Amino acid sequence: QRAVREAAEYAGARRPAYIIEEPMAAAIGVGLPVQEPTGSMVVDVGGGTTEVAVISLGGIVTSSSVPVAGDELDEAIISWVKKEHGLALGERTAEEVKTSLGSAWPLEQELSAELRGRDLVSGLPKTVVTTTEEIREALEEPVSAIIDAVKVTLDTTPPELAADVMERGIVLTGGGALLLGLRERLESETGMPVLMADDPLKSVVLGSGRSLEAFEALRGVLFASSR
Ligand SMILES: Nc1ncnc2c1ncn2[C@@H]1O[C@H](COP(=O)(O)OP(=O)(O)O)[C@@H](O)[C@H]1O
Ligand SMILES: [Mg+2]
Repeated sequence: QRAVREAAEYAGARRPAYIIEEPMAAAIGVGLPVQEPTGSMVVDVGGGTTEVAVISLGGIVTSSSVPVAGDELDEAIISWVKKEHGLALGERTAEEVKTSLGSAWPLEQELSAELRGRDLVSGLPKTVVTTTEEIREALEEPVSAIIDAVKVTLDTTPPELAADVMERGIVLTGGGALLLGLRERLESETGMPVLMADDPLKSVVLGSGRSLEAFEALRGVLFASSR
């Protein structure tokens, strides 16, 4: 934390620089009652990491961070398509496949679509047909790693706070949370209600902004630099 603070001040932030932890900013951004004694759980699936945090009385009670999130889903699509179809996909294409065909739970209507890439043997452009079921299978490993991170955090959550989460629901945010069916999958595996943030790509930014607006009220969740 000191390093971040010093970097912020070195970069020109006014002193003292205040720091807010990302899961806290996300929780404030989605409107969770972070200052209250009740327990709130936020799961932020970003690009590089998934952060799970239980918050109560303005502090993070228990949290975990795993290096599996959106990027890892793209990678999983690339390796699957390479192995199953002998096709090389670029990272941008893989991300597009994820957002348009990816899912973590059976869809009401499964679809098929064409994938364009480069044939690994001939080096020439090639098109193969894939389905939403197939892409879901490709994503299974990183998706279950994300789910496991939530389950492990729930296991280490004090029982009263876990009961609060059971009542109010887990809040899912971050761009990776937009993966179709991730909410349903998480509900089914944890047995808890799961709510989607209104604007999953912006929760952290919104929360940081809101904590500045409500500076006095939220003082306890910010860390001031010592200088
Ligand atoms: N509709 C979508 N479906 C699945 N993943 C998505 C969707 N939109 C964005 N993403 C993924 O969200 C991730 C970025 O989320 P973000 O919360 O901005 O990450 P970070 O906070 O780590 O920068 C990327 O991996 C991106 O591919
Ligand atoms: Mg983020």
